[in-house]
Amino acid sequence: MLTLGIETSCDDTSIALLEDETDLRANVVSSQIEHAEYGGVVPELASRAHVSNVLPVFEHALDQAGARPADIDLIGVTHAPGLAGALLVGGAFAQGLSLALDRPIVPVHHLEAHMVAILLEHPVVRLPAVALIVSGGHTLLVHVRGWRRYEVLGRTRDDAAGEAFDKVGKLLGLGFPGGPAIEREARSGDPRAIDFPRPMLDSGDRDFSFSGLKTSVLQWVGEREPAEVAARRPDVCASFQAAVVEVLVEKTARAAETLEVPSVILAGGVACNGPLREALRARLADCEVVWPSPILCTDNGAMIARTAVLRADEAVRPGEFDVHASLPLP
Ligand code: KG4
Ligand code: ZN
Repeated sequence: MLTLGIETSCDDTSIALLEDETDLRANVVSSQIEHAEYGGVVPELASRAHVSNVLPVFEHALDQAGARPADIDLIGVTHAPGLAGALLVGGAFAQGLSLALDRPIVPVHHLEAHMVAILLEHPVVRLPAVALIVSGGHTLLVHVRGWRRYEVLGRTRDDAAGEAFDKVGKLLGLGFPGGPAIEREARSGDPRAIDFPRPMLDSGDRDFSFSGLKTSVLQWVGEREPAEVAARRPDVCASFQAAVVEVLVEKTARAAETLEVPSVILAGGVACNGPLREALRARLADCEVVWPSPILCTDNGAMIARTAVLRADEAVRPGEFDVHASLPLP
């Protein structure tokens, strides 16, 4: 069975072709560079870029897979959460294809897909698990009792972890997105150089908050001459990253210990972060800690296709499809 996965919820236009459950025949990602000069995603620019990218990305994916449109059996597309105008582009494209090919559409929840991405490379994850989803728009701690059986344990009360990386990156002149640049810069810095706060580390619940930490970095920078800030940028990056990592790791580890789960799944774009991965594995020696390859951590069509396969029984026909800017995990 060949499943098409379409992802257009934010600033990546991505289309994948998945044979059965794990044979990824194509996964094309076109990351929009239009937003770089604004230091964040501009919704209308994102929609317009999806419109011009979606067909070339689809054709590129077919090419890579050596497939024809008629070979597609099932269409999966992100329907929530995300930028409404961006989601509509993928949704309209999916409905057009569905009509033309007479194939059903599975509406996919983007955050479920970030977790399910792990199944592409680790088809058997021991459940129940605790999943930490850390992306540009979301920070969520989830109890995965089984696939399709989720309970949200905690979430960020303000900025997402990736958003904090992006805002600090912008503040330090590192461009957008900030996450990969901060990780790179931090390699030559000292994570103990500046004592940034560890927000909500001991709040007694499983929620997060990153907006105060970002403000602390802003204050530290504001109190210094530009030359000093430039010279100490690696230390700022390393110290900021250490604060984010400590809170994420500690709260995830405590949830995993209390719930006595055999596995922890790290997912979403921030899961690309090396120090986060290493610290989580080191902290949870008795647990299997797993994460997808970087290309499957950031937004991609493959995770959408795999989730569509998981929920193939929920397929709808064109005309029955809608998008939602926000929607709880299914
Ligand atoms: O999952 P994703 O591609 O998009 C959303 O659904 O938001 O995540 C993008 C986020 C951005 O905020 C980016 O800065 C962050 O993931 N990110 C990283 C790294 N690579 C990407 N954050 C920290 N370290 C990284 N290596
Ligand atoms: Zn995402």
